[in-house]
Amino acid sequence: MKDHIQQLLEQTVDRLKAQAIIPADAAPRLQVDRTKDKSHGDLATNLAMMLAKPAGKNPRELAGLIIDNLPESTLVAKTEIAGPGFINFFLDAGWLGKQIETIASDDRANVAPIAAPQTIVTDYSAPNVAKEMAVHHIRSTVIGDAVTRTLEFLGHNVVRANHIGDWGTQFGMLIAYLEKMENESAADMDLSDLEAFYREAKKCYDEDGEFAERARNYVVKLQGGDEYCNAMWRKLVDITMAQNQAIYDRLGVSLSNDDIMGESLYNPMLPEIVADLTKQGLAVEDQGAKVVFLDEFKGKDGNPMGVIIQKRDGGFLYTTTDIAAAKYRVDTFAADRILYFIDSRQAQHLQQAWLIARKAGYLPDTTTTEHCAFGMMLGKDGKPFKTRSGGTVKLADLLEEAHQRATKLIGEKNPDLQGDALDTIAATVAMASVKYSDLSKNRTTDYVFDWDNMLTFEGNTAPYMLYAFSRIQSIFRKAGVNAAELNGTVVLAHDKEEALAQKLVQFNDAVQGVANKGMPHLMCTYLYELAGAFMSFYEACPINKDDVAEDAKASRLRLCAATANTLKVGLGLLGINTLDRM
Ligand code: ARG
Repeated sequence: MKDHIQQLLEQTVDRLKAQAIIPADAAPRLQVDRTKDKSHGDLATNLAMMLAKPAGKNPRELAGLIIDNLPESTLVAKTEIAGPGFINFFLDAGWLGKQIETIASDDRANVAPIAAPQTIVTDYSAPNVAKEMAVHHIRSTVIGDAVTRTLEFLGHNVVRANHIGDWGTQFGMLIAYLEKMENESAADMDLSDLEAFYREAKKCYDEDGEFAERARNYVVKLQGGDEYCNAMWRKLVDITMAQNQAIYDRLGVSLSNDDIMGESLYNPMLPEIVADLTKQGLAVEDQGAKVVFLDEFKGKDGNPMGVIIQKRDGGFLYTTTDIAAAKYRVDTFAADRILYFIDSRQAQHLQQAWLIARKAGYLPDTTTTEHCAFGMMLGKDGKPFKTRSGGTVKLADLLEEAHQRATKLIGEKNPDLQGDALDTIAATVAMASVKYSDLSKNRTTDYVFDWDNMLTFEGNTAPYMLYAFSRIQSIFRKAGVNAAELNGTVVLAHDKEEALAQKLVQFNDAVQGVANKGMPHLMCTYLYELAGAFMSFYEACPINKDDVAEDAKASRLRLCAATANTLKVGLGLLGINTLDRM
């Protein structure tokens, strides 16, 4: 609705320019806000006050001209000028009812695809080979996936880039250790415990000189394209990613093997990039290394900071790879936007890589790069999230624990539910809870992981949201109707019906917010408010009671259907499935 009024005002501004009422170069920031007090209408704008000066008119007079030039719209029932020059819009309640009818049955919940789709690369998840996914990877994975789904839903061409850590000197030692294990046991090697594998490999490297020598030799061979080393490296990547894929599938994350664009992909580009940066005069030799000095970043001494892009021994760095990745994403996909879901501690790294890529002409001004940064994951004690003994929490273990806790929670609520039926519901509640509790917090802050907070039916939680959805399904069952076949006219007679309808038409704003800011908590907040508006409506407006008139019942059932559909589509954009019963 806000969008609609905004569009009307945009057209009005053009009309005012055409009549030279305001200067042709005026570019006011169109602001439309919801009114706090309904006696002032539903929406208001301060446009007349912003344009009064350039127009050389007093704001109330200009407000009158704006209203005169406002294009016809079925949405606007009445306008009025208020106070120093605000324009208040009273929306037509009938219009709202029609919107609800559409929302109830449209599989996009009445969100139109974007008019001008862009190509957007989303860089998320990015675990490291031969390591378990660490807690920061779950944040990147879950947040990145929700934003990716939302962008895709809007019709953008989205390229998922899983920038896995699959290259580097550590692979010499990992290959040497894999070889050792294969030589020692005839049976197929068990790599289920990647942490242990990495630790043992490191131990051999540190303690066994001969092993270390072999490992260093393998690094050189791998870099040179040696077939044996390459096959061993592949094995490590495949085993790791098969384990990660199982986690993605269990969590309902929309990443597959096709989305892997690891560091190794960019490795062949690196010598050329260093040569080019050197040729362009951006990189210089400094104590044998290749360094880019950036005026924009000052070191402690106040001198431009040096970013190393090639070490003295010829090795490349994490930053060099990200410079190449940015170039690749522009050259290969013609990306308009590149979103990086990476923890906030890597902010400087990204800024430097992008700045160098921009200076070198690899990243044009028409491509934006955005750091969708997130804070750390903390335990209840406010310290980094760890196991009781201080180790990293394995994501697979965490998901298993979520499943057990959800089984207990749902089992207690529904003692009749058992066996497979309980297990299926518990699985959905568990994954939804782990994801939703992360997604629902503003990602820029640190996130406190707390089982009790995420697995409760109270507050902005997954169980609450799923329960709200399933409760509506039970209303339909009780009424003996199929939500898809409802056709009653929506009449917003009660305050709470009106309030629910107002909330429902704001879904589009929430979707756009997530897409523009890369912040899924905007969707969670919206859905939580929607569920709240629904609960108040349902308390005040009975449906399955004998004394409810048929047309009121039909209208309310459709409000229920619109709410259920919006919850389903909204949760779906977060990568969360709904349940008809729980
Ligand atoms: N593999 C890295 C890590 O585990 C994250 C990579 C993020 N993406 C990027 N383009 N640098 O921290």
